[in-house]
Amino acid sequence: MKRVNRFLVSIVILSSVIMSCSKLEQSTTTSTTPPVAVVPITTPIATTYPAIKSTFGSEIDVNNLANYANQTKPTYITKDNTGNNPITNAKATLGRVLFYDKNLSVTNTISCSSCHKQEFAFSDTALVSNGVLGGLTTRHTMRLVNARFSNELKFFWDERAASLELQTTQPITNHDEMGFSGQLGRGNINTLLTKLQGIDYYNELFKFTYGDINVTQARLQECLAQFVRSIQSFDSKYDAGRVLVNNDNANFNNLTATENLGKTLFMTPPVFDANSNRVTGGLGCNACHRSPEFDIDPNSRNNGVIAVANSNATDLTVTRAPSLRDLVNTAGTMNGRLMHSGGIRDIATAVSHYGGFINDNANLDNRLKPNGRNVQKLNLTAAEINAVVSFMKTLAGTNVYVDKKWSDPFVNN
Ligand code: HEC
Ligand code: HEC
Repeated sequence: MKRVNRFLVSIVILSSVIMSCSKLEQSTTTSTTPPVAVVPITTPIATTYPAIKSTFGSEIDVNNLANYANQTKPTYITKDNTGNNPITNAKATLGRVLFYDKNLSVTNTISCSSCHKQEFAFSDTALVSNGVLGGLTTRHTMRLVNARFSNELKFFWDERAASLELQTTQPITNHDEMGFSGQLGRGNINTLLTKLQGIDYYNELFKFTYGDINVTQARLQECLAQFVRSIQSFDSKYDAGRVLVNNDNANFNNLTATENLGKTLFMTPPVFDANSNRVTGGLGCNACHRSPEFDIDPNSRNNGVIAVANSNATDLTVTRAPSLRDLVNTAGTMNGRLMHSGGIRDIATAVSHYGGFINDNANLDNRLKPNGRNVQKLNLTAAEINAVVSFMKTLAGTNVYVDKKWSDPFVNN
């Protein structure tokens, strides 16, 4: 209370000082009085955040937040699923803390970042990932790069989350991931909200961000979604070439002949004979993984990968893939396995899958079954596979792996 009063008093004093300053400046052109410096208004007003300081050190400076809200993106990037939750620096910063905080699990051992690792484009190199108390995920962890830049609003491999906001609390309440499931004696989401309410740095962060200390599920969703949406990667070789032309079908000056061939194959639809054999044209990848975001077509059905990790069951529900950017890191090394089942380890095998290993099934995308009876046979040559792999590698960025604003802010971890 005292602090608030002092705060109000200082505002009143400040404003009268400022008002008199401006009066002075207007009326003193002939006077010898030197103009009064207006320093006080930019100086942060006597609020300190001791818990933020001791927990995050120089990682988080509330007076100089990292830039999440006004990052530059290329003009050719137009898809955006932000909706009514535009990124602000304060909420994305709070999202960063939540993303890296092991307190979000029942055992204080697992954070979002345990599975979504910055060094692997926020994915995991494990086939499936470890959650709490021996829990395992049932699918491979998805990369989170450029999650914002898609027309598809739904999230997860099977699109079961209607928005990114609704997605973010599902790992928290998943029994095997972070464990606040309300089952088998475990707490539920309300248990977590109460827990976070008792942590001093959250009191300060929520007060700073929202003006009061209340931790709510909606606020967690808003902040986590903003942090995830802020993770962007547009400094690839592909982008350096794309910015110089006005469409993806032109050859890029900075790409090798092989990479340009791979691009053409990726972009161009195949031409099939009556038996679904490709006779000419490209490989048709862009119909579903649409450049320049390389996001999934919202109408896509499954691609014939119907296996389940560590099981003989089948899964026909997977109709989404994360952006195909950053499949590999800057050095060209895989950021983890591919597909929901993690069954494919490299890009060449993924390309080959589309060549002739598609499992026909009731939810297969029609585009992969061109005559309605037979799945496509692309009749790929080794040179074509190699070219598409080379092109996919041009989609690797650099900054996303090292930018501090997406890194772990807990200095004492
Ligand atoms: C135990 C590992 C694990 C933890 C912890 C975890 N995730 Fe995930 N995440 C996954 C897996 C696995 C998937 C894919 C699951 C599926 O589709 O069924 C996924 C999917 C996602 C997606 C969907 C991406 C897309 O393109 O559709 C987002 C977003 C995401 N996680 C964010 C988070 C956030 C935020 C947290 C923390 C609150 C978190 N995850 C915690 C493993 C994890
Ligand atoms: C009919 C739509 C469709 C077409 C055409 C298509 N894909 Fe896919 N792709 C998908 C879907 C859906 C997934 C997610 C599948 C899964 O995990 O089971 C996917 C997954 C992938 C993945 C794995 C992504 C990850 O994060 O693990 C790669 C790589 C890929 N596709 C490359 C290609 C290439 C290369 C082509 C062209 C030869 C192609 N795709 C054509 C729909 C399509």
